[in-house]
Amino acid sequence: MSYYKHHVFFCQNQREAPEACCANHGAAAMRDYCKGRVKALGLAGEGKVRVNQAGCLDRCEEGPVLVVYPEATWYTYVDKADIDEIIEEHLVNGRVVERLRI
Ligand code: FES
Repeated sequence: MSYYKHHVFFCQNQREAPEACCANHGAAAMRDYCKGRVKALGLAGEGKVRVNQAGCLDRCEEGPVLVVYPEATWYTYVDKADIDEIIEEHLVNGRVVERLRI
């Protein structure tokens, strides 16, 4: 049994231009938004959801990236609507959001 039902890692890595990196795609703001929504929805905590920052996850060209464990489902995202969809579909309903999957 996992300590968290879903553990979400947002890559926050910053690289020098012209290298691709998640930090240049609003990764910090989207992590903060996701953490805030998860908390507001009452999803945060032991046995539920945890949102953390991560260093480079080595999928920089596909970024920005996040990964949800224990399923090891990788996503990219563009805006808050994408994060909302991942929260609602994956974290709440347990359904993978195929359109955002990488
Ligand atoms: S910078 Fe995000 S995966 Fe490498």
